[in-house]
Amino acid sequence: MSKNEQRHSEEDAAPLRIAVLISGSGSNLQALIDASESGQLPGVEIVLVVSNQPDAAGLQRALKHRLPTLYLPWKQREEAEARLTAILRLFQVDLIVLAGWMRIFTAKFVAQFPRCMINLHPALLPDDGMSKTYITSSGIEVPALRGLHVVQQALDAGLPVTGSTVHYVTPEVDAGPVICREEVVIEEGDTEEMLHERIKRVEHRLIVEAVRKFIQLIH
Ligand code: GRF
Repeated sequence: MSKNEQRHSEEDAAPLRIAVLISGSGSNLQALIDASESGQLPGVEIVLVVSNQPDAAGLQRALKHRLPTLYLPWKQREEAEARLTAILRLFQVDLIVLAGWMRIFTAKFVAQFPRCMINLHPALLPDDGMSKTYITSSGIEVPALRGLHVVQQALDAGLPVTGSTVHYVTPEVDAGPVICREEVVIEEGDTEEMLHERIKRVEHRLIVEAVRKFIQLIH
């Protein structure tokens, strides 16, 4: 198939149906909405936004753009996951994007969505997802920071550089194969808030790039 034919068939294909899962401000959800509305994500449709927090600011962003939006209480994990599975199936979701989603899924839940759930993590993770360290573009070995409060951990460890990574979700937390990542230099005097803001600015590009890459990979 020629490049033109391929492009044509990608455009003609049924849109990729995305669900975005959030727990907080939703600035990365906003980046996806903006990219979609401005034509930067052709063939992609955000069909559902789910939050486990009733007061997540991201819910208002979704509502403002008239996206189907849902608050899903997360008291008992298995029960909540069963509900979420049913909802994702009902909305015929092709790709689940965890954009600031603060709940850990069971291995059983993750196994239902192999290679179709991606997570945005505010630290540098190695390509295979599993190694304990990451080698930066300038050859410095830094720890692969996983879990919560990794922006503060990068500062506490005195790292020269941190960043953000989008990776496939696997049962191990923040450890799936990497789709894309970008480094962010840590500056003297950075606070957690300042550094996280700079990381988020990068993330707003990265999350869009990851969805684009995902589409290329499945076509
Ligand atoms: C991002 O920094 C993401 O990497 C982390 O949570 C933050 C979400 O920010 N998992 P927002 O809600 O998209 O503004």
